[in-house]
Amino acid sequence: MRPRSPRAASRALAVSLCLAALSAGAASLTRQPYLQSVSRTSGLVAFRTDTSCPAQVRFGAGDLAQMANASSVPGTRHLVTLTGLAPATEYSYVVEACGAALTQARSFRTAPAPGTRSVHFTAMGDMGMGNADQIAVANGTLRVRPELVLTVGDNAYSSGTESEWHSRFFAPMAGLLSQVPIFPSAGNHDYQTAQAQPYIDNLYLPSNNRHRSERYYSFDWGHVHFAAIDSSCAIGAGPQAVCGLAEQKTWLQQDLAQSQAFWKVVYFHHAPYTSGSHGSQLAIRRELGPLFEAHGVDLVLAGHDHDYERSYPLRAGSVVPAGSGGAVVYLVVGNGGASLRPFSSSQPSWSAFRNDTAKGFLDVSVNEGVLLGRMLRPDGSAVDSFSITKPLPPLAPPLALTVAVEGERGPLPVGDPSPTDPGGTPPQEQLLPPAEEAPVDALAPGVGCASSNPAGLAFALAGLLVSGLLLRRRGRITCPASSRRASTPPGSGRRSGAPRAP
Ligand SMILES: [Fe+2]
Repeated sequence: MRPRSPRAASRALAVSLCLAALSAGAASLTRQPYLQSVSRTSGLVAFRTDTSCPAQVRFGAGDLAQMANASSVPGTRHLVTLTGLAPATEYSYVVEACGAALTQARSFRTAPAPGTRSVHFTAMGDMGMGNADQIAVANGTLRVRPELVLTVGDNAYSSGTESEWHSRFFAPMAGLLSQVPIFPSAGNHDYQTAQAQPYIDNLYLPSNNRHRSERYYSFDWGHVHFAAIDSSCAIGAGPQAVCGLAEQKTWLQQDLAQSQAFWKVVYFHHAPYTSGSHGSQLAIRRELGPLFEAHGVDLVLAGHDHDYERSYPLRAGSVVPAGSGGAVVYLVVGNGGASLRPFSSSQPSWSAFRNDTAKGFLDVSVNEGVLLGRMLRPDGSAVDSFSITKPLPPLAPPLALTVAVEGERGPLPVGDPSPTDPGGTPPQEQLLPPAEEAPVDALAPGVGCASSNPAGLAFALAGLLVSGLLLRRRGRITCPASSRRASTPPGSGRRSGAPRAP
């Protein structure tokens, strides 16, 4: 009998596993799917099954049958990478294992296209109790349907064990986590088991630091830059070489300096400014505060104290007029589920508003140069609202392909490669604004960008053909709308995003 090839053996194993699973009954989910590291062009779907068998996610924009990617992890803990996604697009998906669908269709939205100046996010903190309040906060969050959710730590009380992550994070927030990407930060309670190793094991987060650690990271979403800091490690709870205060400070300084985003939000667990029972974390305030001010951070979100508190705009510890350079607004949003604690002292002069009786979450809409924040109860009623405004430069004119004229070739358009794009989107997948897209394949003679100089048309045509070949992997060439003569309807040239192995 001839030995089987590895591929044949693998296929036979998959078939036998499926048959075994089917004979024992259909597989079922032991953890509902949750979205991780969603970016403009990719995302992760993690879930767990009670049976070890091949699993996949079937997904598409309006058509579930469009694509199906398999889990890259054998066993019962599954991780599926969705690739070839388009920005600002709603995708539906179902989880399948052993050939059967295990969920109904869920949907989520990818990150906005470059140039988008509208972002809606929420934040919650100290919620990981598995109680009715946490469920109400998660459901209230889902009702406002943010594009993404941040957490400011203490995701799984009381010790951040594997079991607690399941019963006090994933289970009570399953509906939210399957439909809205979440970008957590770790709290001190998450650190009480093996320096937050279950946090690392259960989450699939960006890790754009030199240690490739998921403990702190950053990403762009529209015109907002988000940076998650691990304050527990920074004050001594974790591996200092990886995430000590000096290490994170160096990383954050570089990260913020490199960001070109109009708005910047930094979030972590231990509050630099709070009048709650724990008191302000002065080392974080002293070491990171100047970075926030120097690099235009607008909002700093924290938790730890189980209340809600908002500062006036602060610079170097002093209240400054709104709109002042270097002004930072500090929020405590530790009212997501754990028992509230009363303020133990009178309201400080820097504290603009505080509340220790309402549970809820922070809802933030950032449109152009206006940031509107609201602390919402689960029923959607507002406890507090505030706004930050600042002038933004006008939108840049559409990127355009400059064709060859008189023997010179102009620059080729590129997308907006974001070094901090979650999921590490490769540059060739960066997309240009849909309204300005034209498929490379549509750039046939007489269908591409018009040259203003007929004498240069032949040379321009040659340049276009070369450009088209070079950019075929990029997927798009942008032409000024006024010069586009393609008959292709806007958007119809979008690459389908063929499935790739994760
Ligand atoms: Fe805490």
